[in-house]
Amino acid sequence: MTSANKPTKVTLTFDNGAPPIDLPILSGTLGNDVIDIRALGKHGVYTYDPGFLSTASCNSNITYIDGEKGLLYYRGYPIEQLAEHCDFLEVSYLLTYGELPNAIEKKQFTNTISTHTMLHDQLTNVFRGFRRDAHPMAVMVGVVGSMSAFYFNDMDVLNLEHREVSAHRLLAKLPTIAAWSYKYNMGQPFIYPQNHLTYAENFMHMMFATPCEKYEPNPVLAKAFEKILILHADHEQNASTSTVRLAGSSGANPFACIASGIASLWGPAHGGANEATLKMLEEIGDVSRIAEYIKRAKDKNDTFRLMGFGHRVYRNMDPRAAIMQKTCYEVLNELGLHDDPMFKLALELEKIALQDEYFVSRKLYPNVDFYSGIVMRAMGIPNSMFTAIFAMARTSGWIAQWSEMISEPEQKIGRPRQMYTGKLRRDFVPTSNR
Ligand code: CMC
Repeated sequence: MTSANKPTKVTLTFDNGAPPIDLPILSGTLGNDVIDIRALGKHGVYTYDPGFLSTASCNSNITYIDGEKGLLYYRGYPIEQLAEHCDFLEVSYLLTYGELPNAIEKKQFTNTISTHTMLHDQLTNVFRGFRRDAHPMAVMVGVVGSMSAFYFNDMDVLNLEHREVSAHRLLAKLPTIAAWSYKYNMGQPFIYPQNHLTYAENFMHMMFATPCEKYEPNPVLAKAFEKILILHADHEQNASTSTVRLAGSSGANPFACIASGIASLWGPAHGGANEATLKMLEEIGDVSRIAEYIKRAKDKNDTFRLMGFGHRVYRNMDPRAAIMQKTCYEVLNELGLHDDPMFKLALELEKIALQDEYFVSRKLYPNVDFYSGIVMRAMGIPNSMFTAIFAMARTSGWIAQWSEMISEPEQKIGRPRQMYTGKLRRDFVPTSNR
């Protein structure tokens, strides 16, 4: 629709002669227009949209996705340019403050984040309360939530300074928490952050160094890791971000909100898909078995889905998957793993699926999770840490989205309505008569 013939309102008519309702149509700067239905409830009807298939839950100026064309912008910048030229903290600054930092701002921000990386020493006791074999995501949900018991002096969500210091703490401490959840799992001592290292290098150091052996970050791998973080930093109103916004809409503290986002991200349909993709590739094992798994993915009586494929918004190649595929080549070349069988299997699986009528007609393409697991595995990161790393990166987006929501002048507690389909009113029956 051109702007000249764009409608400005829609009229809802009823087939029982009830008065029609005019609803305004609002336009953002990019993307679909939205029908403003806020006044509808006063007329005794609600809209019904489980899974938010057609509902814009908020307005936001942080991230834009064009699912048809396969475009992703953070604050207007295409993801390809940011992944190529920026480091993760620059992107985090952009997401939170709306502009890329100049050289001085970048230095100050990097310095601020670097000096908040250490955890309160008593938080180590929280880690020790978990079983050794706990999944890192279980530990992350618990430890991040428990931060509210350690940093409670600065948790007034209506205080801008408190919000900012909480945001800095979260961004700075998430890599420490993620790396320590791995170390705890391995039975190795916690490795303290080194503030002279970059964000990516520091995380890798906390993952791979031991008190007996120093870790020398490989610059190619560190750069690839920065890219992984940038690609996962934000993705507008996905399930975990919406969870953070909804939790925060009640005024809950930021640590509790981010913990709720981590919990939501964990599911295999969302952030857990990277771990599930690698498990799937390991299970397929060989190109000769691809046909069997493609057949299963298409079978409606089989719960199996091709993990790392499909997306609610993208009806085209996920731009993050394309960058991740290129990163895969870079990392595998650096490590001399040109013939990595898992990568070959993934490339062949992608090729076959993209020629298959089932996937073509449903516009199912590889998403970011399809290749990220192969890159991380080549770096020596275990499968169980993939979603934890996603959570670490997405924390920057969650913080930006949470701050945007709190700053919204018309901010209200999120409270969806429902269509009740239960029993009508009935009277209590004593146990003896049931
Ligand atoms: N394998 C097989 N069939 C699929 C797949 C898949 N991966 N994804 C969607 N379909 C089919 C689905 O069965 C349905 O077919 P039909 O129309 O015949 O009933 C159609 O495609 C539409 O699927 P949907 O489930 O209605 O789509 P959705 O928007 O509700 O779900 C999704 C999106 C990402 C949950 C889904 O594509 C999926 O489960 N993919 C695998 C998990 C995955 O890779 N998730 C990571 C998403 S990207 C990272 C992130 O955001 O966290």
